[in-house]
Amino acid sequence: MHLDLTDRVVVVTGAARGIGATIAARFHAEGCRVVALDLAFDEPAAADAPAAGDGSAAGDGSAAGWEVAAGAALPFDRVRCNVADPDSVRAAVDEVVARHGTIDVLVNNAGINVEGVVADLQWDDWRRCMDVNLGGTFLMSQAVAPVMQAAGRGRIINAASFAAIVPSVGSAAYAASKSAVVAFTRVLASELGPWDITVNAYAPGMVPTAMNGFATMPAEAQDRLLDTLSLRRWETADDVADLLVFVASDAAGYVTGTLLDVSGGKLATQIPARAHGR
Ligand code: NAI
Repeated sequence: MHLDLTDRVVVVTGAARGIGATIAARFHAEGCRVVALDLAFDEPAAADAPAAGDGSAAGDGSAAGWEVAAGAALPFDRVRCNVADPDSVRAAVDEVVARHGTIDVLVNNAGINVEGVVADLQWDDWRRCMDVNLGGTFLMSQAVAPVMQAAGRGRIINAASFAAIVPSVGSAAYAASKSAVVAFTRVLASELGPWDITVNAYAPGMVPTAMNGFATMPAEAQDRLLDTLSLRRWETADDVADLLVFVASDAAGYVTGTLLDVSGGKLATQIPARAHGR
């Protein structure tokens, strides 16, 4: 199957590191025009050219501002954007459209993890988790949808989590936010169906990143987690990116309103470790 995504304009939120950075790099490798959004990027910008009058300041992190990638490591545009801030989202989307004319694919990858049993959860932490994971997905989708409607096509792809299927103890805020992303995805899929825009969510299982620290856990704890997988290995960000390239392509034109499980068979069976002789 040839999945031709040449020249598609792809916006990936939370793309400064982790899974988002790999997703952005993969779409770039597929010939797309990629714009990475994040609160901040490690490398200092080679040049800053925020749109006149948008009030953004270099290093601000709360308003959109263009940064010209400084080398081969980040060969695509970067825009500072706080997905939980309506003004920042508006400014970022306006800048992408001004520069590229359209948006074909939106990947709502930006997310945060808030841990804590319900008895200890602070209201501010709960709200922050909802604001970024659910609110950010809502704000970005709402801002980008009219651009896709005008084009009569589009793909919105939302990061959910395996926690939306089977949550862990201590993940009430995170799991609730990701379950809500799934419900939001289903509704938006129907609302945008008349424009041939598909909206899907995906559920990674366990990709070691800065968010979860899986890779630095004691070996015993790692084994316990790996024992929940049919494919007994840590997931890579490339495993996620592979799925997203397919979902973004014309080949997935009849897939919408779904939660795509890309978790390596996490808890697909009760004790998958038995198949691995454990
Ligand atoms: P990460 O913590 O490594 O990267 C998240 C990125 O999002 C960071 O660059 C961060 O700056 C950015 N971000 C956070 N708040 C933001 C905001 N308000 N505005 C703009 N950008 C913001 O996380 P990771 O592991 O790469 O996760 C990416 C997505 O995948 C998240 O939505 C996460 O919930 C989801 N996921 C990850 C899993 C894993 O095993 N790593 C499993 C299931 C879901």
